[in-house]
Amino acid sequence: MTLAERLRSETRALHEETEELLYTEPLKTGVLTSDQYRHLLQVHAVFHRDLEVAIERNSVFFQEYNQTDRRKSPWLKADLAELAIALPDKQSDLFANWSPVELLGAAYVGEGSMLGGKVVFHHLQKSPDLQPLLQNARFYRGYGAEALEKWKAFGAILAAQKEADHATIIEAAREAFRTYHTIFRQTKVEKPAVV
Ligand code: HEM
Repeated sequence: MTLAERLRSETRALHEETEELLYTEPLKTGVLTSDQYRHLLQVHAVFHRDLEVAIERNSVFFQEYNQTDRRKSPWLKADLAELAIALPDKQSDLFANWSPVELLGAAYVGEGSMLGGKVVFHHLQKSPDLQPLLQNARFYRGYGAEALEKWKAFGAILAAQKEADHATIIEAAREAFRTYHTIFRQTKVEKPAVV
């Protein structure tokens, strides 16, 4: 099996758990509230902010990844600003001690989440409460027409990794999914800070 195939199959259960945790039920039935939407944006914002900072620190390893064209934190900041909400100000550094190959596992989770984003955007629009908030929404529009090209380019980076690193990358991807769960639980109780 290729690394991409193993990543998909060995994180499938965690993907399902993540979907379930991240309000899939209310999302799919069109009853997601604006508070839940706010919470989703905050979870993604913390994950992507910390991951982007960590990738920046390893810019040589991540040259082909082309982070400049893949940043999601400015979109999330803008979407939260639209709701008059600041990012949680506790400065976390969730990926501080991750090696470059481990960060690649986390990047797989971050890039993969953009694939589901299109589906999520469709579901978000079913919630009457959210319609006024989605006019300028950016994050869930994802890479738009460039989605396939960007996923393929990321796949080429995975394909270039040494077999000896595959297990580390997969375990890191699994840990990155768990990190999403932790952020979800930590940001849930926080009252949104009004800017
Ligand atoms: C309700 C929320 C979500 C839905 C409905 C969803 C749905 C999907 C769908 C339909 C795909 C496959 C797309 C394709 O093959 O073209 C996908 C892939 C993926 N999603 Fe999600 N997703 C959700 C949330 C997330 C989140 C929050 C993460 C990250 C924490 C994530 C990580 C991934 C990854 C890594 C892949 C790539 C799987 C592969 O290797 O092919 N997803 N998702």
